[in-house]
Amino acid sequence: MYKALYRKYRPQTFADVIGQPHITVTLKNEIKNNRIGHAYLFIGSRGTGKTTCAKIFAKAVNCFNSKDGDPCCDCDICKNMVNGEAMDIVELDAASNNSVNDIREICESAQFTPVKCKYRVYIIDEVHMLSQGAFNALLKTLEEPPAHVIFILATTEVHKVPATILSRCQRFEFHRISAEDIAYRLIYVAKCEGSDIKEDAALYIGRIADGAMRDALAILDKCISTDKNINLELVMKVLGLANIDYIFDLIQAIIDSKPEDALMLIDKLNMESKDMVRLCNELIGHFRNLMLIKTVSAPKKLILLPDNDYERLLDLSKHFSLPKVIGILDTLQESFERMSKGCNGRTEMEMSLVKLCCNKVDNNNLQLEQRLDKLESLIENMESTVSVKKNTKNLKENEKKEFNLNDKSDTIKSSESEGPTFSTQVNLEDLKKQAIKMQNWNEVLEILKNYSKTIAMAFKGSMAYISGDFVLIDAKNEVAFELLRKSAQRDKMRTAIKEVTGRLYKLGPYKPTIEDKDVDPLDALADIARNFGIKVNES
Ligand SMILES: Nc1ncnc2c1ncn2[C@@H]1O[C@H](COP(=O)(O)OP(=O)(O)OP(=O)(O)O)[C@@H](O)[C@H]1O
Ligand SMILES: [Mg+2]
Ligand SMILES: [Zn+2]
Repeated sequence: MYKALYRKYRPQTFADVIGQPHITVTLKNEIKNNRIGHAYLFIGSRGTGKTTCAKIFAKAVNCFNSKDGDPCCDCDICKNMVNGEAMDIVELDAASNNSVNDIREICESAQFTPVKCKYRVYIIDEVHMLSQGAFNALLKTLEEPPAHVIFILATTEVHKVPATILSRCQRFEFHRISAEDIAYRLIYVAKCEGSDIKEDAALYIGRIADGAMRDALAILDKCISTDKNINLELVMKVLGLANIDYIFDLIQAIIDSKPEDALMLIDKLNMESKDMVRLCNELIGHFRNLMLIKTVSAPKKLILLPDNDYERLLDLSKHFSLPKVIGILDTLQESFERMSKGCNGRTEMEMSLVKLCCNKVDNNNLQLEQRLDKLESLIENMESTVSVKKNTKNLKENEKKEFNLNDKSDTIKSSESEGPTFSTQVNLEDLKKQAIKMQNWNEVLEILKNYSKTIAMAFKGSMAYISGDFVLIDAKNEVAFELLRKSAQRDKMRTAIKEVTGRLYKLGPYKPTIEDKDVDPLDALADIARNFGIKVNES
């Protein structure tokens, strides 16, 4: 009879368990040092090795020649265990045996000494499913367990387990297994099965499986039964993700500004029972890929697509600028959120695409401001990690007002966070009359890098003047000031100034507006991105 891969390749020793060293090492040590507890609780998401480790532990504590805390897999006890003939190892699935009587039976049998083994081990899977009465019955035995008994409770939902039970168990938290670890194991299993899986295909399964080894092996199983040579194309086909022409067609409709094409296509997909939430998510995935193409110098590594699809996307990327891609992602993301809240999927998709197909980027102020906000948060995200997060938060309107440099008047509004004593408006010309050039400004910028590389880079080449309570900054472009609109960002600048001067100054611009009106703020931001070594493709 055919045995599913995930059952066939259940690890038999701790050495075979991947991605959970914090668990396997501790358990092995307990066995080596003969410090075995009476109650263990294995917590973690599905398919991460809880049941597997419980079985190995049950074997190892009883094995006649355990080596380094691992079972030998060769003695009678080990062999019986594998055949399911070990009388002293009892597995109970609490999902289907959750009554008081089920647990009472177990607790009564626990009083007898083991038949063959040193320990009688009870593995209770899905323990959170036990009834209240069953938990109470279990609690009694957990309070005074016979010396020869070990309980291993496993659960995916620890919050449903009563605190009285939790406090009597040693807790082990299983982690989601990383895509790389999963891929490594898949390659091994495929090899044992006389099949060959390409690394990118294994990695793709690893990512899709979201930490669950069982799910990954189930996908591999399907792939192997289709073809022994597994590449990314095959995986996509098995997962129903192949032939994504419709995605490219939708992107093309956006490029051509043809809402009608997009709507017809959505209608067709809808007739084919395509799930609109999934469609939206796929489209988001592909615009994320476009964003990576636009920002990362070697994007191929981060983009999991078969070669020909990748080439097509690369080709399409030439029609988009980075800000445009970000804007599209934002629109789609909003739709996705609304759909998840129960809004009509089809209407949402249609609305989004009509918007995207009609949305020519023009330079009116509002749009420009939105684009700046998006780019700003994008760069902020890049600062901590090159992988760009999707989340773009808009600035709150009141935060913007605190440092409003687009204000055409010659005055600076002092905000509350700039200091409690200053409430009225100051005249910039008056301030400038007493302004003295700050000699150690570059030192400030150098220190600022520790707080925010983005801001430091944006103010590269600027100058500053001290006048009374103010530091007036003469930056090369207005975009630099955009970054100071958030009070948290402004505080970074003020802290850096304080570290150099010993004083907490208020901030202001040296000029009411930057004279060089020809500089496109987006170009200026692109400059900042380049300073980070980020590739920016414009089109
Ligand atoms: N850490 C791991 N290393 C290697 N294989 C693993 C690991 N975790 C799970 N597997 C594979 O997945 C299968 C299922 O694992 P297991 O039954 O231990 O998961 P579980 O954590 O108990 O999941 P559930 O909560 O769904 O019961 C195993 O038979 C094995 O093939
Ligand atoms: Mg399990
Ligand atoms: Zn053994």
